[in-house]
Amino acid sequence: MTSRLTVSAGSVSTARRIIIIGAGGFGREVLQWARDAWPEHSPRIAGFLSADRDRLKQHEGSLEIIADPDRYEPQAGDALLLAIGIPIIRRKVAESLRSRGAEFLTLIHPTAIVAPTAVIAEGSIVCPYAIVSDSARVGAFVLMNYHSSLGHDASAGDYAVLSPYATLGGHAHIGEDVFMGMHASIGPGRRIGARSKVSANSCALADASPDSIIYGVPGRVGPLIH
Ligand SMILES: CC(C)(COP(=O)(O)OP(=O)(O)OC[C@H]1O[C@@H](n2cnc3c(N)ncnc32)[C@H](O)[C@@H]1OP(=O)(O)O)[C@@H](O)C(=O)NCCC(=O)NCCS
Repeated sequence: MTSRLTVSAGSVSTARRIIIIGAGGFGREVLQWARDAWPEHSPRIAGFLSADRDRLKQHEGSLEIIADPDRYEPQAGDALLLAIGIPIIRRKVAESLRSRGAEFLTLIHPTAIVAPTAVIAEGSIVCPYAIVSDSARVGAFVLMNYHSSLGHDASAGDYAVLSPYATLGGHAHIGEDVFMGMHASIGPGRRIGARSKVSANSCALADASPDSIIYGVPGRVGPLIH
């Protein structure tokens, strides 16, 4: 599986401003992961895009909120990091920004382990201590939160979200926009259809069609009511 998306990739070395989309808790974490990954470029991390101007009120000394994502006009040299934790919102915001010509960065934390045979598509964020194993494929705009992992030959579709400690066994696959809660796991070779949700601490040991919810151990599969 490779991503079908063509993402306009920014380059951290030429970026004039690095901007984080989302000023919630995850946005603040991504700020730290970006500083860890690119210490020499961290003065160019300019701030956040958020619809809520007061989002950082309780966090004095944090960077500023530059604009609402809906109103932000990309400037030459701007490079964005997508720090939103819900797949459908990640997709909506990123698609809107891409249509306005925005360029995105891929962030891989220095403590993550990425096999040289693995592929990570543009716009994805790989957090501390995540593992992307041999020949694994990470789609575009995927979020791999800390300690999450893709086993050998496993793959995650565009916009999928792996919460902390979520894991895919070897050759397992999750489709586009799949959400995995904390400590959720997918058995080796199992395939989880697009837009499905795997509940926290649950283990999917059977395939699931698109728009499923999987919960429990072993995971029961039901239809997702949107
Ligand atoms: C996957 C998840 C997001 C789904 O949430 P949701 O869309 O609100 O869905 P619901 O909680 O309404 O669950 C839907 C159905 O599955 C059942 N279900 C979900 N998880 C379950 C579980 N672990 N055990 C038993 N039943 C479960 C619910 O009872 C519900 O059944 P019902 O419709 O018959 O009442 C949620 O279960 C979850 O895992 N949350 C944790 C998120 C997380 O880890 N975030 C980390 C951020 S860093």
